[in-house]
Amino acid sequence: MASITLLILAIILCSRTLGATSRGGLFEASAVTEKHEQWMARYHRAYSDESEKTNRFEVFKKNLEFVEKHNMNTNMTYKLDVNQFSDLTDEEFRARYTGLVAPKEVLRISSSDSDQKVSFRHENVSDTGESMDWRQEGAVTSVKNQGHCGVCWAFSAVAAVEGITKIAKGELLSLSEQQLLDCSRDFNKGCAGGIMSKAFEYIIKNQGITSEDNYPYHASQQTCSATHPVSATISGYETLPSDDEQSLLKAVSQQPVSVAIDGYGPAFKQYRGGIFDGECGTDLNHAVTVVGYGMSEDGTKYWLLKNSWGQTWGENGYMRIKRDVDSPQGMCGLARLAFYPLA
Ligand SMILES: *[C@@H]1O[C@H](CO)[C@@H](O)[C@H](O)[C@H]1NC(C)=O
Ligand SMILES: *[C@@H]1O[C@H](CO)[C@@H](O)[C@H](O)[C@H]1NC(C)=O
Repeated sequence: MASITLLILAIILCSRTLGATSRGGLFEASAVTEKHEQWMARYHRAYSDESEKTNRFEVFKKNLEFVEKHNMNTNMTYKLDVNQFSDLTDEEFRARYTGLVAPKEVLRISSSDSDQKVSFRHENVSDTGESMDWRQEGAVTSVKNQGHCGVCWAFSAVAAVEGITKIAKGELLSLSEQQLLDCSRDFNKGCAGGIMSKAFEYIIKNQGITSEDNYPYHASQQTCSATHPVSATISGYETLPSDDEQSLLKAVSQQPVSVAIDGYGPAFKQYRGGIFDGECGTDLNHAVTVVGYGMSEDGTKYWLLKNSWGQTWGENGYMRIKRDVDSPQGMCGLARLAFYPLA
């Protein structure tokens, strides 16, 4: 019985391969298989059985084709590559690795056609300079990895708090996302999503946040443990005027800023490097931290984003994304909803 099944399977596989040959693709098909094998080894992927592997191979192949097609366009300002997300469909990727959920009142406040201008601490900054890179100021910890948990909101908030703590107190300390994941439960839903403003409110109410070492990351929600010593505090936070890259620039010239962004796109998912300028929408579903800005040699202005997808995504975990675009919402909506903590 089993051998008959195997035989049938072999015939089906065979005819598939033959089908590829007739389009001149046998070499190509085996090259993709090989790329998948190499990719599996690189990302330590093991599949539960052959059918799972076949399914994942098909997804991988689609993602690879998307990458190769994009990279063949020599006129693009950014490159893609397969990465740890390349055997996931866009839907799986979105559900597992993003996680911004904004309360309606937050979106409403930020998008109110401001008759009264929103005032913010850095509004009168006049000299923002040509560029800023908070990494060079020692205000950015190494890139972290949220893993299989939609808790981007905590990583984005923590990176901003790490930044202002270094700027105000002179010490760069890696702080605990797990504490936010476990304890910041007013509105925030752990791995199912949340928003940075609520994370800041938790830190204020809790009179501080502990260090990564004291309360390490586990990529799943656990019971809140309140016994850890405080490592950093904030006195408040501010929301930037919505849809205004100029305000964002003023703020980022002074400190790293938490922003919401549309990270759902297949190009965003497999971004490898260069200055990203689409394709993306402006729906807010992911969160990152703006840690700088600058201009490329050919005069393209960009923001420097710290993501939480490990160092294998993008430029060692960072993205340069186009700045000063025509839409006031910014590229991928990055200027729609931005916050920063106060020392
Ligand atoms: C780049 O090339 C692609 C395909 O050749 C074309 O569709 C696209 O409009 C070009 N983009 C620019 C900015 O020239
Ligand atoms: C910025 O300048 C205006 C006009 O001088 C002033 O009213 C406002 O209070 C200043 N904002 C801050 C945050 O200092």
